[in-house]
Amino acid sequence: MSSTTPWWRSAVIYQVYIRSFADGDGDGVGDIAGLRSRLPYLKALGVDALWINPWYKSPMADGGYDVADYRAIDPLFGTVADAEQLIEEAHRHGIRIIPDIVPNHTSDQHAWFQAALAAGPGSPERDRYIFRPGRGPEGAEPPNNWVSCFGGPAWTRLPGGDWYLHLYAPEQPDLNWQHPDVHAEFESILRFWFSRGVDGFRIDVAHGLAKDPELPDLASQPAPVDGQPQPYVQHPHWDRDEVHAIYRTWRKVADEFDGDRCFVAEAWADTPERLAAYVRPGGLHTAFNFDFLMASWDAKDLRAVIDDSLAMLSDVGAPATWVLSNHDVMRHTSRYARKTVARWVPNQRYQPQGTADLDLGTRRARAAALLMLALPGGAYIYQGDELGLPEVEDLPESVLQDPIWERSGHTDKGRDGCRVPLPWSGQTAPFGFSQADASAEPWLPQPANWSERSVEAQTGDETSMLELYRTALRLRRAHPALGDGTMTWLDAPADVLAFHREPGFTCVVNLSNEAYQLPEHSTISLASGPIRDGLLEPDHAVWLKV
Ligand code: GLC
Repeated sequence: MSSTTPWWRSAVIYQVYIRSFADGDGDGVGDIAGLRSRLPYLKALGVDALWINPWYKSPMADGGYDVADYRAIDPLFGTVADAEQLIEEAHRHGIRIIPDIVPNHTSDQHAWFQAALAAGPGSPERDRYIFRPGRGPEGAEPPNNWVSCFGGPAWTRLPGGDWYLHLYAPEQPDLNWQHPDVHAEFESILRFWFSRGVDGFRIDVAHGLAKDPELPDLASQPAPVDGQPQPYVQHPHWDRDEVHAIYRTWRKVADEFDGDRCFVAEAWADTPERLAAYVRPGGLHTAFNFDFLMASWDAKDLRAVIDDSLAMLSDVGAPATWVLSNHDVMRHTSRYARKTVARWVPNQRYQPQGTADLDLGTRRARAAALLMLALPGGAYIYQGDELGLPEVEDLPESVLQDPIWERSGHTDKGRDGCRVPLPWSGQTAPFGFSQADASAEPWLPQPANWSERSVEAQTGDETSMLELYRTALRLRRAHPALGDGTMTWLDAPADVLAFHREPGFTCVVNLSNEAYQLPEHSTISLASGPIRDGLLEPDHAVWLKV
């Protein structure tokens, strides 16, 4: 790869869910001080950049995705000065910083929404959000039938009679992206943080900003063809074509700053073509490849996702960014722990069948890590992936904090199970997440057996997930074939994924039920488990030098 290739085409980006990464001040919630203290760990792990979930001032109705002030850090996490220090220190470690930006909605405590409430119906203040009169007698019915992603209607009525739109919680009113103030404000926020040295942004709900101005009812989903769900031609509020004009402007803002700044879109699109539209020249740099995360543990499915993604992205000249887990979905160690891993359906919580076989899930997670890190492009690691953390599926109902739990009428436990604070060291909770003399317990309880999965317990154990990730990232960084580039499939049985990358690199993943005889090679660079007699066991992967 030439030295002029931008870093983000092959970066390994580590997602810091800041509330659960490391607690520096002992209040049971992770913060910037905790993150700063762990930069040497991240440097040694070998990641290129950190995506940090929202750290802005927030009432925390949705874990910080309800932002009250985009130019302030929430006191739970620190101050703007702490953020500046973090950026500076991370850069000294050679690690880039990508905060989250939340442009689809603000908090209901944001000054604009408070002004809109005070100003009343028909006011210019209300025009920055999406207020409408209701339907039916006395306007008692919501303006349309849209639903909140967290359950229930997407509209809440105010005492004055008007309704406002919130595609998420009522505490997250949607902004009106047809209003020039909204555009100007976000361009200014981007500049505020770019000039403080951030290297890019992860764009929350990037596919949601543009709404059909008529706010039509949601039609029923188009009829399936051959059992396959069919996409909307234009959905009233998801992934509309108009959204791209916003990002073309944002790209120009990013380009005003020196260095290679980078956007990554959280865009849920129905097809790889529609996803590729976000990363056309002049648009965003990258977008998460959620098709990879949603795929079942099945060679045919994975191969199709890889082929389709690479084909569509190379048409527009953008790199792929592979992802297995994040703070919104069941951790993949647990997802893969079911014998049959169903394909995941977008906009639905993943509800696995049966109990988890975590040994199976861990074997597959190890293989999946080697697959992901060998594919062309960049990759995301969600904090704790490198420790092989499973989903905490048995959190007591009394501790749940995700708004999904309440909004679903206690039918969906939500996303707290993948957000449990990390275990760093020691035999008992908080496992080094907070110091021993902390004044509060971690904001979600950690399972007692997480001592076995702590950073301390895994360090130096050659069979651990942590050492697998460390070695894989070290090899990947040094290997000229890995990161950005191309790949070629090799002949292999249908249940085996085998591909070659120039120069001299082959990856083989065995998703079948039988051991597979490795192709000719000079050495094994890395394997997800023991290899005997040149046989790759089921649910294992290997990197070969050829
Ligand atoms: C995104 C975030 C999720 C959040 C939602 C609303 O999907 O990843 O955590 O709840 O947007 O901001």
